[in-house]
Amino acid sequence: MVLNITCIPGDGIGPEIVAQAKKVLEAVAKKYGHEMKFTDILMGGASIDACGEPLTDEAIATAKAADAVLMGSIGGNTSTSPWYKLPPEKRPEAGLLKIRKALNLFANLRPAYLYEELAAACPLKEEISKAGFDMLIMRELTGGLYFGERKTIEENGELKAIDTLTYSESEIRRIAIKGFEIARKRRKKVTSVDKANVLDSSRLWRKTVNEVAADYPDVSVEHMLVDNCAMQLVKDPAQFDVILTENMFGDILSDEASMVTGSIGMLSSASLNDSKFGLYEPSHGSAPDIAGQDIANPIATILSAAMMLRYSFDLDKEADAIEAAVRQVLKDGYRTGDIYSEGMTKVGCSKMGDLLCERI
Ligand code: IPM
Ligand code: MG
Repeated sequence: MVLNITCIPGDGIGPEIVAQAKKVLEAVAKKYGHEMKFTDILMGGASIDACGEPLTDEAIATAKAADAVLMGSIGGNTSTSPWYKLPPEKRPEAGLLKIRKALNLFANLRPAYLYEELAAACPLKEEISKAGFDMLIMRELTGGLYFGERKTIEENGELKAIDTLTYSESEIRRIAIKGFEIARKRRKKVTSVDKANVLDSSRLWRKTVNEVAADYPDVSVEHMLVDNCAMQLVKDPAQFDVILTENMFGDILSDEASMVTGSIGMLSSASLNDSKFGLYEPSHGSAPDIAGQDIANPIATILSAAMMLRYSFDLDKEADAIEAAVRQVLKDGYRTGDIYSEGMTKVGCSKMGDLLCERI
């Protein structure tokens, strides 16, 4: 099979970790008789520097023509980078929002999983973490506060900022369906998270999720308020299977969920549209402080590449091979700095890529 993949190395550690993911994908291609065709595009700060905007229409066209997109990370230090002196719509993050909207990537899957080998890195008390946890946050990605009308006006002699939060039934329904479908392949439980005690958008969310739930009698559904969910994630994370939520709540809860695993450098994500097309990226950011030093953890990006093989190409065997290589490399005691503990062998970014290739 020929796999046409657009790559977005991006900023910070992005180019280093994407290079390792490409290496591992090439190893998979060699073993299983596929051909990888990579085309790089610029996004974020790299695109601002080269083209004066965070994402060009040509770059979007290239991504659209591919079968899938593999991304590293974008953005820089928000206090020191000149990119953050630009107006908001010209900053690196605007490129990411633009590509999500342009490619209609409304379903953002963010797994948060406690690795047995890395249990010591989990910041929760052992009495909580010993139960283990394995959840997936299904975050709506192209609606809500992120894409509502916004403006800053002057009123009564002072500035007033307005952000609007809207959701239509169809937007809620399509993400809810994704949530229930994936729950069916997991432990068959959906926790829908909202703020229905305050927000109209959340009341419509809850009503629509209940309608969709009726089509999935084999999947249990519960509703949870977002503030309570934030609390439950640290109190009893094992209770969650699929967390289904809107854009802003999902942004916040997914950072929290990844932090409680203690190994954010290990967590992958996928942003999907209604077909097989998707954009795959690590859950972590661009870590500008360690960029260019060959010490970043490439595993989250490599596991995102595995998700890409699974969801966009239906190559389950190949995705399994990557995931097995990751487990094996951990069992063999290799760690990048972020997940290092005493007695293990500390390795850099490219060495980790090599070790994984050897295990494919
Ligand atoms: C994320 C990021 C983005 C978001 C930023 C960079 C715009 O935090 O992917 O979670 O808020 O969606
Ligand atoms: Mg975020």
